Amino acid sequence: MSQLIYADSLSRLGTESAFVVLARAQKLAAEGKDIISLSIGQPDFKTPQHIVEAGIKALRDGHHGYTPANGIAPLREAVAADLHRRHGAEVNPDNVVVVPGGKPTMYFAVLMFGQPGVEIIYPNPGFPIYESVIKYSGATPVPVEIKEENGFAFSADAILSKITTKTRLIIINSPANPTGGATPKAEIDKLVKGLLKHPHVALLSDEIYSQMLYGGRSHVSLLQYPEIRDRLIMLDGWSKTYAMTGWRLGYAVWPDSAVEHVTRLCINDHSCVNAATQYAGIAALTGPQDAVIKMVAEFDKRREIIVRELNKLPGFRCADSGGAFYAFPNIEGTGLTSREAQNRFLDEAGVATISGTSFGSYGEGYLRFSYANSTENILEALSRIRKVLGNLN
Ligand SMILES: Cc1ncc(COP(=O)(O)O)c(C=O)c1O
Repeated sequence: MSQLIYADSLSRLGTESAFVVLARAQKLAAEGKDIISLSIGQPDFKTPQHIVEAGIKALRDGHHGYTPANGIAPLREAVAADLHRRHGAEVNPDNVVVVPGGKPTMYFAVLMFGQPGVEIIYPNPGFPIYESVIKYSGATPVPVEIKEENGFAFSADAILSKITTKTRLIIINSPANPTGGATPKAEIDKLVKGLLKHPHVALLSDEIYSQMLYGGRSHVSLLQYPEIRDRLIMLDGWSKTYAMTGWRLGYAVWPDSAVEHVTRLCINDHSCVNAATQYAGIAALTGPQDAVIKMVAEFDKRREIIVRELNKLPGFRCADSGGAFYAFPNIEGTGLTSREAQNRFLDEAGVATISGTSFGSYGEGYLRFSYANSTENILEALSRIRKVLGNLN
């Protein structure tokens, strides 16, 4: 019998419950249960065909070896051109570092600044990996509550009020997971202005849902603020926009002072992103964008339906979802805790959703619904949930 002694730090590492719920839903489905998944954060679309073809062509053309750790030059140039087209931002391709998905950027950014004795500010409820990795790094996690009454936009004042001499990094996310909140420009202006008083603080802006905004909203990228470019890490990628979650491709624009550090982390961690995927990434950025426009239009339609229908469920109250593909209703009126609601809806209705508490302690009283599923399935799921609610006493 082995007697392995693992590092203490592992006990501080959290997880992403979406994967746990997904595994449980798949197990129930394998047992013959009819499961509708409104839990997973990935588009229910296939990667557009011309992108797939570019990946296949790259393999046929012999792109089988290592690439530069920060990504092939034409891909980084395509990213810079895309950021100019979408945000009007001037980006040097040398500041772009391509990594396997959105997650590695947050992992590296937190490891780069996080250590015992320092503080990192992050949104709560928010993407669970932020808090997990902050704790893993040994830094103190400082949550900022994301409030329903603000339409789940973050409050610049709330963030700025948490800054101390120990703060090293602030993480923001708009449009946001799990709330669908989109933060308006005035709030971002205020945050940037406030940050100028704290030159020791870096900013990680997770903009992975930057192309998924609804109701006339448009995305405000932090790249549009030259005054903080020397401390901004802007994360984006292909997973959501091009329905490429399984390809593992993402990037960030890093400040000059960080490029060398992050490239070293890449070399130590994964050497480079697989070559064929990088060529597919070029095709995604430089090819036709109609598949993206179509997908976002479809999400918009479903968003209206799901928000309207959630508001009709007894005990539910659902704010408008401004972006991403999530609705985050308040379910306090049902008398169930978030975890109870998640479990009962899965067990009794065969509907997979995610407890708000999976996104942080301020998520109690909420449930995340992903509308990356057909309208038909969404309506069926909500009607099943209505039946469960009818049986509560
Ligand atoms: C806010 C946010 N950032 C980053 C990611 C990570 O994306 P990827 O699958 O590319 O690692 C996700 C995925 O759900 C997300 O919701």
